[in-house]
Parts: sequence; structure tokens; C-alpha cells
Amino acid sequence: FICSVKLLDSVDSTNNAAQQLAEDGAAEGTLVIAEQQTNGRGRMGRNWISPAGKGVWMSVILRPSLSLQFAPQLTLLTAVALCRALKELTTLDIGIKWPNDLLVDGKKISGILLESTAEDERIRYIIAGIGISVNLTEEDYPEELRGIATSLRIEQGNELDRTEVIAAFFRQFELLYTLYQQEGFSPIQTLWEALSVTLHKPVKLTTPAGVVEGTPIGLSESGALIVQKLDGSQVNVFSAVTSGPP
Ligand code: BTN
Repeated sequence: FICSVKLLDSVDSTNNAAQQLAEDGAAEGTLVIAEQQTNGRGRMGRNWISPAGKGVWMSVILRPSLSLQFAPQLTLLTAVALCRALKELTTLDIGIKWPNDLLVDGKKISGILLESTAEDERIRYIIAGIGISVNLTEEDYPEELRGIATSLRIEQGNELDRTEVIAAFFRQFELLYTLYQQEGFSPIQTLWEALSVTLHKPVKLTTPAGVVEGTPIGLSESGALIVQKLDGSQVNVFSAVTSGPP
């Protein structure tokens, strides 16, 4: 799947570097990996801690032939691929918190940031940014993130080879991306639901349209979270800040 790899020592954000390559016409499967990011980005404008040599900070260019409304499906697919890869390499109990955070014991171990560029509602390209906290130690995290964020090394008790993590991820990603292109979202949805730690537990979501309180009961066809509200009605949530367990 990977057709070319650009390895950088340091970059502001691998998503920015990959976006530049995509604008210059780079093909699907072009991968940018950096030893460190000086301005790693998370969802909702947050900062992503990316110290040198401690994690996998990478972005891959995707060029699916897809309408923009289906982009969230690829976010979920990426989370499933990463979850399966990390479960394969560790003995950790890793689950997906909607839409795409991987949690161990309620603490975040990786982050995924997909950024789509479209024209007339068709996707031109997607930059799939993946951050995996592989060998970070407690000291790598600022005080306020300890207890919220963790690494494979902290949880597993030993260092992991970052190259193996990358290889395991792309084995899974290629498998699922091919399945997705052949059979659509349905099999991915089933896999996501089985790995989810969000479904069937009460949540309070702050969405662009206001606060939604209820119980997530599944995913919609386009990858939104279907929440059964307290009054029994259902609403599809595409993006939100979660509060409440976990
Ligand atoms: C999140 O959970 O908020 C998403 C974090 C995504 C981090 C990765 S690291 C590689 C890529 N480059 C970035 O600047 N962000 C993503």
C-alpha cells in the first residue's frame, strides 16, 4: 500500500508536510514520518505531544473515490486498523473511544487526525495523521496530561520497536482499506462496534449543535454516532467533545 516514504528528523506537523506533498500531486500511499514534531496537532485545535524518537508520528495520503460525507468512515477504519495492530503487538486491553481515540484503562494511547480536502463535495485527498505514543515515559507528559494520556511502554512495561508498530499498522490498514473498497462500510462498522468502549454507556456530548445527553447505540451509515437521547429520540452526532465515562 505504501508507495513512497519521506522520513524527516523534525517537522512542525507531518499532516502539514503530507498536505504539501498531496497538493504537489503525490500519490495515494505516500507516507511522511517524523522523529519529532514541533507543532503536532490534535483534534479540536489541541496540541499533540511528539517528542523525538519516542513515538510514531506519521501521515499518509489517501485518495479514495468518495463523496466528502463519507470521510468519517475512514476515520473509524483507521482507528480499527490501529487498535487491531496494537492488540497484536501487546497484551493490553485496548478499546476505541468514539470516534477514534484508543484507550487503555481509560487513558489515551494514540490519536488520529484525518483532514480532507474536497472539490464539489468529492474528496480530492485525505491526510490521515496517526500519532502513537510508543515509548514515552511519565516525564514526557506535562502534569495535566498524566492520568489522561499514556504510552505503550508505560502500560506494557517494556519498549516496543517503532518500525514493528508501523508495519503492523499498515498490514491492518491495507487489509481493511481493501475490504472497505470491496464491500463498503458495513464490515468496518461491525469491527468498530466490537472494539468500542463508547457504545451502550451514558454520555454527555458537546456538539456544534448543542449538548446531547443519552446513550450511544451504534454507528450510522456515514460514520456518525447514533445517540438515543433521554427523551427516547435519536440523533446522529458527527463531531463532539465527550464528557462522562470514558
Ligand atoms: C487527537 O487525538 O487529537 C489527534 C492526534 C493526532 C496526532 C497525529 S501525530 C501525526 C499527525 N501530525 C499531526 O500534527 N497530528 C497527527
